[in-house]
Amino acid sequence: MTDRYAVIGNPIAHSKSPFIHGSFAQATGQDIEYSAIEGPPQKFAATVDAFRAAGGKGLNITAPFKLDAFAYATQLSPAAELAGAANAMKFEGDRVLAENFDGVGLVHDVVHNLGHSLRGKRVLLLGAGGAARGALLPFLAQVPAELVIANRTVEKALELARIGESRGQVRGCGYDALLGERFDMVFNATSASLRAELPAVPAGVFSSAMLAYELAYGKGLTPFLRLAQGAGVQHLADGVGMLAEQAAEAFAWWRGVRPDTAAVIEKLTIPLA
Ligand code: ATR
Repeated sequence: MTDRYAVIGNPIAHSKSPFIHGSFAQATGQDIEYSAIEGPPQKFAATVDAFRAAGGKGLNITAPFKLDAFAYATQLSPAAELAGAANAMKFEGDRVLAENFDGVGLVHDVVHNLGHSLRGKRVLLLGAGGAARGALLPFLAQVPAELVIANRTVEKALELARIGESRGQVRGCGYDALLGERFDMVFNATSASLRAELPAVPAGVFSSAMLAYELAYGKGLTPFLRLAQGAGVQHLADGVGMLAEQAAEAFAWWRGVRPDTAAVIEKLTIPLA
């Protein structure tokens, strides 16, 4: 019987996951079926129960269900635990394993696809919500010289930095405190770009930056990327590679084979200009 997987979210029509996983399955010769489920609000558990009863083997989880998936799991990976959210689940009998591949997917994209090592670099992470949490440990595992987390609500940045402090050089602050500081790489993990807003980051942070990375995907030259471009940053990127890489991690976790992402990234790339 063909193994079944799906992405669950609401809304879900825009999801690229069926295309991505369909491409991976074809390229690796894996016999799977991958669909999209529009989960009714407040009915996450019942919907997943039904999917499992019908033979479902795993799910990707997108907004607004990442916290529900976290609560539904019987076993959390360290990444899911830290993020407080799950973006992938695997069903093994009664066991529900939860993972969060957003952070490793981001690092994989930066290091392997874009060719920027984080080792020994000064790295600035904007935001302290779910997306930033996911990036924290994978970033520190790359041993940057320093990771600075800046957030509009300063306390959330300080809290995230405290979580990471046993694993590397990390400090939290507000945007004002960035005046006069410069970084080798700047990542925008705020949700500001989804509303075409700009975090109040001083343009000077980019003055020696080689890479500005917008975690959102498909929003073109966001205010953040425009600011970086105006400050002379050569390499601008959005989250298309992160999207493909987190999917590849989930696929490998489920199927034991890690697909190549280049073709999918090429298909999904929306030019930044
Ligand atoms: P996500 O899961 O996308 O990270 P989230 O957990 O709601 O979403 O977090 C949103 C992040 O974007 C937060 O860091 C938020 O800052 P606050 O903690 O101060 O709210 C940040 N954010 C959203 N809009 C922003 C804006 N216009 N300027 C600066 N930061 C913004």
